[in-house]
Amino acid sequence: MTTQTAKTIDGKTTALSVREDVAKRVTRLKEHGVSPGLTVVLVGEDPASQVYVRNKDKAATKAGFVVDTKKLAATTSQGDLLAVVKSLNADPAVHGILVQLPLPKGLDEGEVVRAISPAKDVDGLHPDNVAALVMGEEGLIPCTPAGCIELCDRYGIELEGKQAVVVGRSMLVGKPIAQLLLARNATVTIAHSRTQDLKAVCLGADVIVAAVGVAKLVQGDWVKPGAVVLDVGINRGDDGKLVGDVDFAAASDNASHITPVPGGVGPMTIAMLLSNTATAAARIAGVG
Ligand code: GUN
Repeated sequence: MTTQTAKTIDGKTTALSVREDVAKRVTRLKEHGVSPGLTVVLVGEDPASQVYVRNKDKAATKAGFVVDTKKLAATTSQGDLLAVVKSLNADPAVHGILVQLPLPKGLDEGEVVRAISPAKDVDGLHPDNVAALVMGEEGLIPCTPAGCIELCDRYGIELEGKQAVVVGRSMLVGKPIAQLLLARNATVTIAHSRTQDLKAVCLGADVIVAAVGVAKLVQGDWVKPGAVVLDVGINRGDDGKLVGDVDFAAASDNASHITPVPGGVGPMTIAMLLSNTATAAARIAGVG
C-alpha cells in the first residue's frame, strides 16, 4: 500500500515559470540593443544527446534567444572541434556556448571544456567557473545543480543548518551541488559507490540529492521521515520507462518533499541553461 505523505515537487511547472522570467530578461536585453545568442555544439549521433539538444534549441528559441545548433560528424578531429570553439569564443553574437557531452570516443572532453571562454561557459564546467563556485566568487553555475537549488527556493525549503547527503560525485552534478548546499550553510556529506553503509548515511539526511545513475538505488526505508528528496537520476527501467535513482513510491511515504522522474529536476536543467545564457549575455554586454 502506498500512503504518500510527500509533496511532489513539480519541476515542469516550476521550469516554465523560470523560463517566463528568463524571457522577460531577454526582452530587457533586447531593449538595451543586446540580442542574446546561444550556440549548442553536438558532435556525433548519440540518440539521447540529439533529444537533449533539440529540447534546448526549442526552449531557448521560445525564450527569445538567437540559437544556433552546430551538428558535427562523429569523426570530427580534436583540432577541428577546438577551432569551432575558438571561433565561437571570438564571435560577439554568441554569449553562451554549450558542447553537449559525452563526446564521441577519442575526443578529449577536458581540453574542449577548457577551450571554452569562461564568460560564455553556460554549463559552468570550465575550471575558472568551478573555482569561482568553490571560492564563492561570481561565475556560471552548472545547470542541473542550479536547478535543484532553484526548486528548493521556490518551494520554500530551508537548507541552512540541514544535514545534506549527496549521492554521486560527478563534475556535472555531485561536486557542484555539494558546493551550492555548503554555500547555503547546509552540512554536506558526499557519498559515492565506495561509501560503506549508504543506507545509514542516507538515513541521517534532512536532504538527499541522488545523482549516481543507478535506478531506484535509494530505497524508501533509506529516507528519514520528513526528509527532502531530490532525484537527479534518469535511467531506463526494465519496462523501458524512465526511472530515477530513488524508489519514488516507497520514498514518498517518508519524505516531506520529493521530485518525480520524469518531471522533477530534469526540466529545470534547460530552464537554468537559459538563465545562465541571459546572465552571460548581460555580463558580456555590461547591461543589467
Ligand atoms: N550531457 C548531459 N547533461 C549535460 C549538461 O548539462 N551539459 C552538457 N554539455 N552535456 C550534458
